Amino acid sequence: MNASSASYSRITGTGSYLPPHRVDNNELAARLAADGIQTSDEWIIERTGIRARHFVEPGVQTSEIAVRAAQHALEAAGRKPEEIDLVLLATSTPDMVFPSTACIVQRKLGIHGGAAFDVQAVCTGFVYALAVADSMIRTGLATRALVIGAEVFSRILDFKDRTTCVLFGDGAGAVVLEASDRPGILASELHADGRHVDILCVPGQVAAGAVTGDPFVRMDGQAVFKLAVGVLDSVSRSVLVKAGREAQGIDWMIPHQANIRIMHSAARRLGVPLERLVVTVHEHGNTSAASIPLALDEGVRSGRVGPGQSVLLQGVGGGFTWGAVLLDF
Ligand code: ACO
Repeated sequence: MNASSASYSRITGTGSYLPPHRVDNNELAARLAADGIQTSDEWIIERTGIRARHFVEPGVQTSEIAVRAAQHALEAAGRKPEEIDLVLLATSTPDMVFPSTACIVQRKLGIHGGAAFDVQAVCTGFVYALAVADSMIRTGLATRALVIGAEVFSRILDFKDRTTCVLFGDGAGAVVLEASDRPGILASELHADGRHVDILCVPGQVAAGAVTGDPFVRMDGQAVFKLAVGVLDSVSRSVLVKAGREAQGIDWMIPHQANIRIMHSAARRLGVPLERLVVTVHEHGNTSAASIPLALDEGVRSGRVGPGQSVLLQGVGGGFTWGAVLLDF
């Protein structure tokens, strides 16, 4: 990496990928019922806004869906893999313990030599990765980055725990972020508070050739809900102040797609009209680090998010972590 520093970084292309198997609430409820677990389409929609999610077929790894999203983003940016000198991949479901899934994606795309690493900030992972890529570009460590969020969350779901397994899905989203003289990313802010590690975690690990502890998602839903709404509001206000912008001037707000009630509460507190929210949670479920780039790509490809518009990305998740990025598209 011999790049010279740039004034700004900008998103020049977006892409995403959803596994073909769409599982609606009724199909999931029937699957759970076979194990004696009761849930319903009505309960899931009312509490979360989720109607369906996509699950990969057995054996499909995170790198595979990450590559597909990255290829779409590269096409949209008009870039070839060899022009990329940084691969940042946000995931909590890496292919292997090591090396990083970013390195595996780098190899599959035929990119060599630039930096590649995973970012682990659970559902805030994409916001973390985008802010890190922006910093690296502005300080001359890179010129053109692939920033990806990709998850195969289905493999860490306990389908006997109805309080968590109905919430999540699999998918991937990506952007190409390039050095630029024109402002793209205007302000970013990242936070974590490890005192809340236990309210959302997968408390297991691999040791001595076996899984030790509990390898499934565990969550205190109400504690997460309360924390999420407050921190999303404060971090959003903070990036707006940094950028000298007003909430009323935001064209699009793209929060982490965890739950429609969290998203609506965050928008109302900030004073952003609900019609300026990009919402995909109803069709994707919560895809953790992939949810924001998936929603961004959906907004772009549906013709809603376009050049010159301002976009506020908001992440929140396990750790507890949270962050926001304000950008001009
Ligand atoms: N189907 C049917 N009933 C259910 C289900 C289900 N899938 N899950 C829980 N219930 C039951 C409970 O057992 C409980 O029954 P009870 O009253 O007989 O004891 C009842 O529904 C209410 O349970 P609560 O946990 O109080 O439900 P709540 O309204 O809090 O909704 C939810 C649960 C959706 C998880 C909510 O707390 C929430 O949205 N939390 C935010 C967490 C979140 O979105 N996490 C996503 C990952 S975190 C992130 O991405 C930041």
